[in-house]
Amino acid sequence: MGRIGAFLLLAGVLLAGCEADPGADTGSGAAVKQDAVERTGEAPVTAEAYDPARDYFSFANRDGMTVRHIELDLDVDFERQVLRGYAILHVGLTDPAKLAWLQEAESGGPDDAGRTTTGDALRPVYSLTLDSRGLQIERASLLDETGGARSLTVSRPDAAPDPVRGHAVRIDLPVDFELAGVFRIRIDYQTGPGASAIMWLPPELTAGGEHPFMFTQSQSIHARSWIPLQDTPAVRFTYDAVIRTPPGLLAVMSADNDPQAQHDGEYHFSMPQPIPSYLMALAVGHLDFAPFGDRTGVYAEPEILPAAAAEFADTQAMLEAAEALWGPYEWGRYDLLILPPSFPYGGMENPRLSFLTPSLIAGDGSLVSVVAHELAHSWSGNLVSNATWRDIWLNEGMTNYLEGRLMEVIYDRERADEERTLNYHDLLDLLGTVPENMQALAPRFDEGDPDVGQDGVEYRKGQLLLDTLEHHFTRPVFDAFLRGYFENFAWQAITTEQFLEYTDQNLLAAHPGVFPRERLEAWLYRPGIPDEAVVPSSASLERAGAAAAAFAGGMSPPDEIPAGRWSPLATVHFLQSLPADLAPERIAALDSALGLTGTGNAEIARTWYTRAAEWRFRPAYPAMRDYLRHYGRIRLLRPVYEALARNGEDLDWAREVFADARANYHPLTVAAIEPILAVESPPTVAAAGH
Ligand code: BES
Ligand code: ZN
Repeated sequence: MGRIGAFLLLAGVLLAGCEADPGADTGSGAAVKQDAVERTGEAPVTAEAYDPARDYFSFANRDGMTVRHIELDLDVDFERQVLRGYAILHVGLTDPAKLAWLQEAESGGPDDAGRTTTGDALRPVYSLTLDSRGLQIERASLLDETGGARSLTVSRPDAAPDPVRGHAVRIDLPVDFELAGVFRIRIDYQTGPGASAIMWLPPELTAGGEHPFMFTQSQSIHARSWIPLQDTPAVRFTYDAVIRTPPGLLAVMSADNDPQAQHDGEYHFSMPQPIPSYLMALAVGHLDFAPFGDRTGVYAEPEILPAAAAEFADTQAMLEAAEALWGPYEWGRYDLLILPPSFPYGGMENPRLSFLTPSLIAGDGSLVSVVAHELAHSWSGNLVSNATWRDIWLNEGMTNYLEGRLMEVIYDRERADEERTLNYHDLLDLLGTVPENMQALAPRFDEGDPDVGQDGVEYRKGQLLLDTLEHHFTRPVFDAFLRGYFENFAWQAITTEQFLEYTDQNLLAAHPGVFPRERLEAWLYRPGIPDEAVVPSSASLERAGAAAAAFAGGMSPPDEIPAGRWSPLATVHFLQSLPADLAPERIAALDSALGLTGTGNAEIARTWYTRAAEWRFRPAYPAMRDYLRHYGRIRLLRPVYEALARNGEDLDWAREVFADARANYHPLTVAAIEPILAVESPPTVAAAGH
C-alpha cells in the first residue's frame, strides 16, 4: 500500500463489504484501474459468504449515508415519452465508519480508520452511489443553505449496465466538503427510452380513447428507471413532488392525492410517511374520482368510473375490518386507481393509492379479493417491509394470509376457503416446477431477477405457514401476536432472521411445546411443504371437482352442470379438474352450456383459454386472440402463452399474436412473455405473474 504516486482507492467500499464492484473504473486513469484490479484479486466478491442482510440487487452504498427525503420536480412529456426535471436527494449520515470513500493520496497508507495519515493535502473524498437504469443524467450539484450550488462529478463505475440491476451512478462530493447532518444533492435528469417502470399509452389503449395515459410500476427494482435513488427496500424516505402534465389530465401519486384537485396541469404532492423506493408511483390520465366513504374512493377514467365505483363499493368496509384486526391504518386516505388493461399486475400496493387492473371489474364483485390483498399490504409490506428481495415472502405470503382473513370478515368463510384452497393447489403445481433451491421461504437469492423470484411460492407457501401457525396457536393468540409484530416493526425493513427471532420469542417460546423453532426454520430454509402444514379445503370446490369428474366420465350432460350456482372460482376449479384429453364435441358442448368463450370474468377466461390452448380447441382461438391483445396483466397472459407454446402446434401462432399485441403491453409484460416464446422448448420458469 505504501506506493508512491497518486492513486484513488475505494477503500471504504472494500472495508464495508463490497456494495460496489471494486474492479470499477474510478475514472482516473490506467494506473488507478490496475491498482483496483489488483485489489479485486485479493478480495473477490464471488468468494464472499452469502449475507442475508445485503441487497444483491442494488448498487447503492447505503451503509454510510442514506436518502431520507426526495423533492421531485418532473414534466410529463407524452410526445417524447420522457419524464424530465430533477430530484433533490436529502442525504443523511448513518454509520460514518462504513462510509464509502475515495482517498486521494500522495504516499503512505491508511490508518485503522481507513484514512491516510501522511501528506498534507490528503482528505477522504466521499461518494454516493445510486441506482439507475437508462437515466440520462444532465448534472448533479450540491446545494447549500444560501441557495447556491456546486457542481459535482458524476461517473459510471461500470462501463456497461447490468441487464437486471441497471447502471450504478457515482456522485463524488467535493474534497473540502465537511460531512455532517443532512446535505442535499440535486440531480437533473430525464428518463431513457423504454424505461422499465413506465408505460406510455396512446389514446387508443385507454377506455376513453381520446387522451394519452402513463403509469409507473416500480416494484421490484424499476424505480431506478425513473428516479436516481438508492433503490433498495432497506432505505425509507419521505417525498414531495411537483408534476406538470398536459392540460386536462390528472396526476396521482403514492402520496396525498386530493380528490378535489383542479385539473390544471400542475400537481403538488407530499408523502409524509417514509416509504421504500419500490412504492414510488405516478400515473397521469384523464381521470375522475368517486368516493366510497370518508377515507376511501376510486380514481378511474370517466367511462369506467361508475362500474368501478359499484364493483369496489366494499372498500371502506374492508379498511374498517382491517383496522379492527391489525390496528390503525397509518396512511391517511386509502384510494384505488383503475388503470388501463395493459397494467402488468392485478394490483400494486402503492401507499394511499392501490393501482388495479380493470380486469377485476367482473360486474359481480367476484374478484375484489385483490383489493383486500393490496389494502392488507398497508400493514404487511408497506408498514413492515422486506429488507431484501429474498425476504419478499414477508410481504406477499403474509399479505395473502391477511387477505384471506379480510375475505372472511367481509364475505364468508366459504369464499375465503375457496381462495385458500386454490392457492394451495397452485403451490403444489409450483413445487413441481420451481427449483428446490428457490422453494425455501427465504432462499439464497443473490442472482437472477427479483421480478421472477420464487415464481409465486413466496405467496402460497408463506400463506400456508401463517395459516398453519394460526391453527396451532389459535386465532386469538395469533391475532394478538400479529398486532404486536406490526407495532414492533412499524416503518422498518426486516430480514427473515428478524422475523424468526421475534416469532420465536413472542409466539413459539411464549407458548412452549406448540411449535418448535426447528419446524419454523424448516419452513424458512428448506424446500417443499413441511408435514405439519394445515391443508385448506373447500366444500364448494370439492363439489365442482366432482362435477368435473362426472362430466369427464361422460356421466353428466353439460347442461346439467350447476355452474350457475357456483362462484367463479368454483368454475375455475371445475375447468382445472377436467382431463387433458376431452373430445372436441364435449368441449364445444361445455363451452356453450357455460358461456366460456368471451366470458367477462377474467379468472374464468384465464383458465378457459389456458385449457382451450392445451386441448387445441380452435373455436375459442379468435376470442383468445382478442383476450391476449386486450390485457397486459402477466397473470392473465402467461399461462395461455405457455400452453400455446407447449401444445406442439401453436408456437408460431402464439408468436404472431404476441408480435401483434406487443405494443399494447407494458415493458414488464414483454419481459415476462418473451422468454416463453423465444425458444423451441420454453423454460419452466419465465417470469412471475402471481
Ligand atoms: N406487490 C404485488 C405485485 C408485484 C409483485 C409487483 C412482485 C412486482 C413484483 C401485489 O401486491 C400483488 O401481489 N398482486 C397480485 C394480487 C394477488 C396475489 C391477489 C397480482 O397482481 O396478481
Ligand atoms: Zn401482494
